[in-house]
Amino acid sequence: MSDNARDTFDAIILGAGAAGMMAAGVAGQRGRRVLLVDHNRTPGAKIVISGGGRCNFTNIGTAPDRFLSANPHFVRSALGRYTPADFIGLVEAHGIAWHEKTLGQLFCDGSARQIVAMLGVECEKASAQGGAVEFALGQPITDVDHADGLFRVALGARSVIAAHLVVATGGPSIPKMGATGFAYEVARRFGLKVVEPRPALVPLTLGQDETLFRTLSGVATEVVARAGATGFREAALFTHRGLSGPAILQVSSYWRHGDAIALDLLPTLSPGWLRSAKRDHPRTTLRRALAAHLPDRLAEALADRLALSTELANTPDRALDAAEAQLAAWSFRPNGTEGFAKAEVTVGGVSTADLNQRDMQARRVPGLHFIGEAVDLTGWLGGYNFQWAWASGWAAGQAL
Ligand code: FDA
Repeated sequence: MSDNARDTFDAIILGAGAAGMMAAGVAGQRGRRVLLVDHNRTPGAKIVISGGGRCNFTNIGTAPDRFLSANPHFVRSALGRYTPADFIGLVEAHGIAWHEKTLGQLFCDGSARQIVAMLGVECEKASAQGGAVEFALGQPITDVDHADGLFRVALGARSVIAAHLVVATGGPSIPKMGATGFAYEVARRFGLKVVEPRPALVPLTLGQDETLFRTLSGVATEVVARAGATGFREAALFTHRGLSGPAILQVSSYWRHGDAIALDLLPTLSPGWLRSAKRDHPRTTLRRALAAHLPDRLAEALADRLALSTELANTPDRALDAAEAQLAAWSFRPNGTEGFAKAEVTVGGVSTADLNQRDMQARRVPGLHFIGEAVDLTGWLGGYNFQWAWASGWAAGQAL
């Protein structure tokens, strides 16, 4: 094969992560010659560490309302055409054992590495269909250009060309794993808009003036955490810097600087529970009543803060009602997040207004596609982000 032929592909995919590997396998099995490029030396770095090493690879409750985007309808087409059942079918065809953990979240029984290996095998299958997926790993991308309907990508000294360029380089969350905002640079360069990227699924931090929660480092409890109208009932964890745990990570995606977060600290109890406690156990104190439902340290801190130290029998009902209301919507104002260094995903990204939802192609730049986390589409915690990566990768792969 001449150098020219060796460097000419049907599609060049930038980013050998979840979405890029999926798109490469799909296109390769449709007989396409694909080059899959990554600056990391191994593919799928985030898959490997995901889900505590077991990869929460999808969620059987996947639905458009589990995603954030400036256009929440954009997600429908790809999610409808490549569903969690499709990905489960793939996982099972590769003999990978899995289980449902909670809230529809599916994990590998063994290791997340099995998912990376599976995607690699899917890429290898291309050769049986007359296609090919060539990996170019450890390759910095030095330039991207477009002329005469062809994309030219410089990989150091090597220059490769294709009619399709798929940008699957994800978002900037966890830069130490090789994450970058490269997709946004490419988008801007080709005139696409980028919705302001923000860290999401990220712990929230508290200022020095927040004296209550900062003393509770290590305590975990079930809460409903609300940012505006959106609430999540899961565990919250107090940390030395602020709050974390699934409920907090979930609301962090909806939180904006300056907003307050409200915690229902006793989501299992019905209104009037303190009056009932007073009736049934008049000699008890608020602290002991709280300790029946909350970790000791939290019960003590909250009772101190509410400053109701007398026995419930000697506490007026209206004071109990006020305490209950405060416990059901304990408001605090984070001073920030732990940022992209700790964020599992990025909210915002390449604007869906500039993309075709069927094949993820730029409306005004034929052949240019954006998939996965690079796009302004972000799922809740719980396997939704991978489902979007698979579905958008599949949708683009069909069009290459
Ligand atoms: P992804 O980040 O997977 O891939 C992008 C690729 O592009 C990377 O290989 C990167 O090296 C490469 N790249 C970036 N910039 C480049 C450049 N300039 N040049 C060349 N290559 C470049 N989701 C979920 O659904 N279930 C889960 O269990 C988890 N768990 C989880 C844990 C942790 C710690 C994190 C950080 C994230 C998760 N996620 C998750 C989120 C999930 O990992 C994420 O949504 C997907 O990996 C996004 O897939 P993409 O293919 O879009 O990007």
